[in-house]
Amino acid sequence: MRDIVQDYYGKQLTSSADLKTSACCDTSSVPDWLKPLLSNIHPEVLEKYYGCGLVAPALLDGCRILDLGCGTGRDVYALAQLAGPKGEVIGVDMTAEQLDVAERHRAYHADQFGYDNVRFLSGYIEQLNALELEPASFDVIVSNCVINLSPDKPAVLAGVKRLLKPGGEFYFSDVYADRRVPDSVRNDPVLYGECLGGALYWNDFLRLSRQAGFADPRLVDSRPLEVTDKALATKTGEVRFFSATYRLFNIAELEDACEDFGQAVVYRGTVPNAPHRFDLDGHHLMATGKVFPVCGNTYRMLEQSRFAYHFDFIGDFSRHYGIFDGCGTSLPFGAGDASAAEAGGCC
Ligand SMILES: C[S@@+](CC[C@H](N)C(=O)[O-])C[C@H]1O[C@@H](n2cnc3c(N)ncnc32)[C@H](O)[C@@H]1O
Repeated sequence: MRDIVQDYYGKQLTSSADLKTSACCDTSSVPDWLKPLLSNIHPEVLEKYYGCGLVAPALLDGCRILDLGCGTGRDVYALAQLAGPKGEVIGVDMTAEQLDVAERHRAYHADQFGYDNVRFLSGYIEQLNALELEPASFDVIVSNCVINLSPDKPAVLAGVKRLLKPGGEFYFSDVYADRRVPDSVRNDPVLYGECLGGALYWNDFLRLSRQAGFADPRLVDSRPLEVTDKALATKTGEVRFFSATYRLFNIAELEDACEDFGQAVVYRGTVPNAPHRFDLDGHHLMATGKVFPVCGNTYRMLEQSRFAYHFDFIGDFSRHYGIFDGCGTSLPFGAGDASAAEAGGCC
């Protein structure tokens, strides 16, 4: 499948207009604060963007960031502006043609930004060890529509876990299915290249994440994908696909369910671009200054990450009150209406 994927992204596709699903390029979801940053990016890089979501979490200034399957580097160059001159963004990809475009425009972006804080590496995301990156050295690892293409997803998650700092996070968009995809879909080269054949059933993804040590994956956002090509849609049949963004915090003490210790947090309104509300995930939208009851896992995600300074913390872990109200396990993705974003993972 690797050869098929390299051929698809290196030779078959020339721009995002060639894609056969609605996975890519939903520009309506780009927040206003990000638009000027995208306008600084070279048109050829933008044209060859094949992502399926937004991988720009808050508070990246000074962060060390890794992008898995960076392609021609749209997200790398966007994140480079958010990380600033004291931060660094490294993009990894296995397809030479993609990396060539990314590298070719490096000087252009250094001129635009006034600094060069970007590097591109050729490699496989299942073999991050081979890249000689220092373990526990990244604040944030992102990926946009790539993990589904990997033939060894547990190896990718294990590599991510090894490279993240304690309190760091894997923040990534990908394609998921509402069931395990049948072999006829998985083995179809075009469906595979289009990010559908290798898509994980969402509950298998949650299991893999927990096995890799990410006990409480948080769903940030999701939307249904349309297979716009009729012939491909006939092949995928009843399987429903979703683009979803998850965040996985590297915090050892997280539990596999949301437990209630009677805790709460108060957002200070100090995260850039979020003066009125901080959204941890699709289910935790915290208004500035308001006491917000949280489970033990949410408390730890905020207290042990780069977000700690921006919150006041109420309570501790000395007394347990049972499972946190609303901790559910049904299909987490919405049908495309407003409730979609609110159908979070746990609690
Ligand atoms: C759907 S494109 C997304 C590219 C980029 N993230 C973007 O948003 O434009 C998938 C990319 O992942 C790369 N890729 C797929 N499988 C990979 C693997 N196992 N190791 C490294 N790169 C991989 C492909 O070469 C391709 O550039």
